[in-house]
Amino acid sequence: MSDKYRKPQGAEGDVNSSPNRVEWQSRHINFEARQILDRDQKYFLRQSVSTPCLNTIRKAEGIWIEDHSGKRYMDFHGNNVHHIGYGHPRLIEAIHQQMLELSFAPRRYACEVAAELAEKLAEISPGRLSKILFTTGGSDAIEVALKMARVATGRFKTISFWDAFHGAGFGASSVGGEEMFRGGPVGPLLPGTEHVPPFGDYRNAWDVREGSADLCARQIRYVLEKEGDVSAVIAEPTRAVPYIAPPGFWQQVRKACDEFGALLIFDEIPTGLGKTGRLFACEYDQVVPDILVMGKSLGGGILPIASVLCKPELDLAEHYAYGHYTHEKNPVTTRAALTTIKIIEDEDLVANAATVGQYALERLQDMMDKHHLIGDVRGRGFLFGVELVNDRETREPAREAADQVLYRALDKGLSFKTTMGNVLTFTPSLITTKQDMELALEIIDNCLSEVGKVLS
Ligand SMILES: Cc1ncc(COP(=O)(O)O)c(C=O)c1O
Repeated sequence: MSDKYRKPQGAEGDVNSSPNRVEWQSRHINFEARQILDRDQKYFLRQSVSTPCLNTIRKAEGIWIEDHSGKRYMDFHGNNVHHIGYGHPRLIEAIHQQMLELSFAPRRYACEVAAELAEKLAEISPGRLSKILFTTGGSDAIEVALKMARVATGRFKTISFWDAFHGAGFGASSVGGEEMFRGGPVGPLLPGTEHVPPFGDYRNAWDVREGSADLCARQIRYVLEKEGDVSAVIAEPTRAVPYIAPPGFWQQVRKACDEFGALLIFDEIPTGLGKTGRLFACEYDQVVPDILVMGKSLGGGILPIASVLCKPELDLAEHYAYGHYTHEKNPVTTRAALTTIKIIEDEDLVANAATVGQYALERLQDMMDKHHLIGDVRGRGFLFGVELVNDRETREPAREAADQVLYRALDKGLSFKTTMGNVLTFTPSLITTKQDMELALEIIDNCLSEVGKVLS
């Protein structure tokens, strides 16, 4: 790649090139794993936060993953697909039965299980969201949502947040705000994709320590007004870093959207189906979007499926095709989604995320007294961020410390990712018990003590 492109700043996850990673691998990667990693690296295109890989995996069960040396890790990342835990037996059985009964639905054929899933999603989602399309991935679903907004409004511009991730496709990375996916030589991206700085009182573009959400909402309103022809505001209701929107923020944005004729699209690809302790993160804000996008955990951590749900009045383009993906009404992926939702309901997993999540959040907040590395603790349900800083006053990001904590935690059997380089980000499975959580918290506590000592 030409030298004129700078290395992306900040990152969605911990990067492949860390010296701590190299050192960790020298102690943990055995002969068998090395061979798999070498083959992987020989054929897969290198890309940031993906290939070359950290380690190999040979088993994933419940909240645990296991590598080729037999070492087990609690997976507090799981790409947010593992709400019901890996390899849930009821889901495997349902998929198996479905494959025996009907394994594919070609174009022009309605399939009962796909219709049942659509009915179920309409029933559980907020407001009147009831018209649906399925895709195989979240990025595609976001792009369907963008097309729908264009058709409904006759406009093409969008407003979204810097630093957000909405997927890797051209449309999704255009509304995304991460350099890694939209910068460098990949452009030009979609025209009219305006971005605003996101809210987040601990760290924000305005350098204020409170009130960033109000400034952000005002900015959205200002751009909506100045542009005058924005099709949609698209965002995650709970930011991934994570940052929780304060009460009233989304209501202010909703009002501005309505006033200037823009739709509101919520990306609940990681948060949907209970991650934040409610079935949908937007329930906390009592704001119903015009379009809601889900994905990831919808396939139960086994199969890829995402969905776009909208208000019935947005069903406007019968002579065009927004999605029409090959696996749009796949009976096996839709069976997986339907069964996943039933498992979440039957096992009361959303309530578990709320109660164990609240307990863990308080424990992490208590750790601030002991560990000066912690600048801020944020979270809701099973989505937590522990932001590490070198100095609480200046809030200088402690990237090296975060990286070291990450690899020490792996040593002790806990896997998670960092966000923006210095935020330890935990997104455990919704089946994580209080006992599992105690174990994870102890590991985090010990790692922070060790790294605090080494770096002081
Ligand atoms: C908020 C958000 N939107 C969209 C996506 C893209 O989903 P997919 O990887 O299934 O295309 C992701 C994936 O990480 C995500 O976190």
